Amino acid sequence: MTKRKILITGGAGFIGSHVVRLFVNKYPDYEIYNLDKLTYAGNLKNLTDIENAPNYHFVKIDLVDALALTNLFNEHQFDSVIHLAAESHVDRSITNPLEFVMTNVVGTVNLLNAAKECWKGNMEGKLFYHVSTDEVYGSLHDGGFFLETTPYDPQSPYSASKASSDHFVRAYQNTYKIPVVLTNCSNNYGPNQFPEKLVPLFINNIRNNKPLPVYGKGENVRDWLYVVDHARAIDVVYHNGKIGETYNIGGFNEWTNLGLIKVICSTMDKILGRPVGESEKLITYVTDRAGHDLRYAIDANKIMKELGWEPSLQFEEGIEKTINWYMDNQQWMDEVTSGDYANYYDTMYKGR
Ligand code: NAD
Ligand code: DAU
Repeated sequence: MTKRKILITGGAGFIGSHVVRLFVNKYPDYEIYNLDKLTYAGNLKNLTDIENAPNYHFVKIDLVDALALTNLFNEHQFDSVIHLAAESHVDRSITNPLEFVMTNVVGTVNLLNAAKECWKGNMEGKLFYHVSTDEVYGSLHDGGFFLETTPYDPQSPYSASKASSDHFVRAYQNTYKIPVVLTNCSNNYGPNQFPEKLVPLFINNIRNNKPLPVYGKGENVRDWLYVVDHARAIDVVYHNGKIGETYNIGGFNEWTNLGLIKVICSTMDKILGRPVGESEKLITYVTDRAGHDLRYAIDANKIMKELGWEPSLQFEEGIEKTINWYMDNQQWMDEVTSGDYANYYDTMYKGR
């Protein structure tokens, strides 16, 4: 197997930590560098099991710091990048769009520039893998699925910033001949997700008998994929994806928010030994998210047929595994919900 020196960005976050773990454990001959700014969403405790592995290295850098990126590339001469670092929460992007422009757009362009300069004159064996989202395609209203060819139609500041970064990645391939590959994935769930997102937030609130804030009528639809299956897909695309291609990743697993919330509630009742229906009583309808996308649904046939990837877990198994992880790791949850979290929660949900 060819040795690789890979820069993975955002490796202390939710999906990034699963990607780093997979690569560090599965490819002991690869050198894995995890670059992360350690924002509120970055947590090195997500990686304690592999932090001492000889092929794992951590660097604390902000993607907005172009000089630090150039110096890092000069020092380590990476042959590939898997770029996950981003501001990732839609509600925060509505409150503070500029932060999303800085990290997701400026940060991505800085990273592309550092790779371009380092790889100048020899693009052989190089790869810039950009991890993106299905939200760039907008909102589905009349059935159908997002294909790789679906025109971009981002509707939130978050998805607009991700769409912009996707365009820059493709433009750098066209203009500077950087070998790139992109994936656009649907909603992930699983261990280590910051409890601002629906699944861990609701698990934590049920555990603490707090209201479950359902936006609007809870009729919005999302397509849920277990995070380790996303990491497995990234492994497959990194090794076998065709340069210049985009692959959509999803689980063909659509749920209305209310449907998903009811599964979480009944599983929590079972695990906590509460009477059937107890957790559902916490459901509280609150003011909708501004510009809330109605439905996302990925057609994942391309990656399945061309690269042989498919999800390994059925949803019922995945969600039970996920809930059990949060119940078994209450200290992780307590730590990430201490400090600034209470302020965040008050600001985001008070008066909704
Ligand atoms: P996350 O918010 O959990 O983690 C993001 C990580 O990026 C954190 O560790 C954070 O510290 C780091 N980061 C943020 N700004 C940075 C900066 N300026 N410089 C360096 N590091 C910085 O995000 P996630 O949910 O794991 O998402 C990872 C990627 O996958 C993102 O690009 C996101 O758009 C994409 N994605 C997420 C989902 C999902 O359901 N969560 C689905 C599809 C695609
Ligand atoms: O589709 C991929 C995207 O999925 C990723 O690109 C994003 O990074 C990720 O955050 C996720 O975006 P969503 O907005 O779909 O995820 P979130 O968990 O924030 O919300 C899921 C659904 O639940 C959405 O319809 C809004 C709703 N919701 C969310 C929260 C936090 C509520 O009803 N109440 C809540 O408190």
